[in-house]
Amino acid sequence: MKKTILITGGLGYIGSHAVIEFVKSGYEVVIIDNLSNTNIGVLDNIAKIINYKPKFYEINLINKTGLKNIFSNHNFDGVIHFAGLKAVGESCKNIGLYHNNNIVGTINLFETMEKYGVRNIIFSSSATVYKVNSEINTGLKETNLTGDTSNPYGTTKFVIEQLLKDYKNHKSWKVINLRYFNPIGAHTSGLLGENPNGIPNNLLPYIMKVATGELSEIGVFGNDYDTVDGTGVRDYIDVIDLVRGHLKAWELVENQNTKGKMEKKKVESKNNGFFETFNLGVGKGVSVLEMINIANKVVGKDIPYTIKSRRSGDLAIVYSDSSKANKILGWKTKISTMESIENSWKFYKKLKIKD
Ligand code: WQD
Repeated sequence: MKKTILITGGLGYIGSHAVIEFVKSGYEVVIIDNLSNTNIGVLDNIAKIINYKPKFYEINLINKTGLKNIFSNHNFDGVIHFAGLKAVGESCKNIGLYHNNNIVGTINLFETMEKYGVRNIIFSSSATVYKVNSEINTGLKETNLTGDTSNPYGTTKFVIEQLLKDYKNHKSWKVINLRYFNPIGAHTSGLLGENPNGIPNNLLPYIMKVATGELSEIGVFGNDYDTVDGTGVRDYIDVIDLVRGHLKAWELVENQNTKGKMEKKKVESKNNGFFETFNLGVGKGVSVLEMINIANKVVGKDIPYTIKSRRSGDLAIVYSDSSKANKILGWKTKISTMESIENSWKFYKKLKIKD
């Protein structure tokens, strides 16, 4: 019997790539998405890639009644929770939107999961939960302090991690928290990629839209940081490597359930909840100008840019130490930054032709 997994935000950038990987790995997948930062065409492209169209419900997590109807129609073995707004700058401008959408929506999801006895979850968290004391954050580990976040987006992720601890401690949920760094890249088919509605907030989608001519030039937010070339340094992880990390995390959750069943024979443990956190990053940093130089090689021309003032809230250097995921999940990144940008470019060229 196939295991059924609910993927929230499953038509979004990372969620859609996760749908592909989980279906290819033999899981039944059900998708919910409110289409606020994607479009229904992504479902058609998923179907083209896997020759099968997963069940999709257009719904906002704020709609608790709708959520209950979905859970009553399916027997979910678990949830992978991607759904949420994720633009750092936008979250500073519209705090209430982020608190309601990301936190209240998630509270509804968790209450509905508990009501229907769905107690396995992989949560899409973020490196923005780390308490960063300085501009330089090299080799962030899961044991680094969290909280005291620098933006409302990070606050919502931090709060949701705390909610999950309650469900682990008092309802025996099996929880894995994955803290992403900077996801980039696209599916090798060129049919899926990061295509946010409106002007991109993130670096690579913006570079790609300059390369296709849709935008005139990239603004580099500051070149006076204490870094290799003065521009911001981040840990860019390929989206396929990222979702493979989710597969490994799901296997760990399943092992916990199997272990729990075996232990049950010995002793009725009051609480056999499970809660683990893993960074998913490459473990090295790449600067803005280095990204532009790689993109120049990929697209075969120089992408125009101008140096602008720093973006508020930005840090100089942020990259991960993902050795815990390497050791415990048996996962490590395989796809190079150049390959990620090549896949992105293939995706944006197809988008341009379609337009
Ligand atoms: C990267 C670098 C900018 C745009 C993102 C997401 C957040 C989280 C972490 C998952 C910085 C510079 C950017 C531009 C630029 N992801 N830049 N010009 O800020 O690290 O955060 O990853 O949880 O959701 O927002 O990523 O791509 O915005 O910026 O110079 O037009 O590129 O200053 O140094 P960031 P980003």
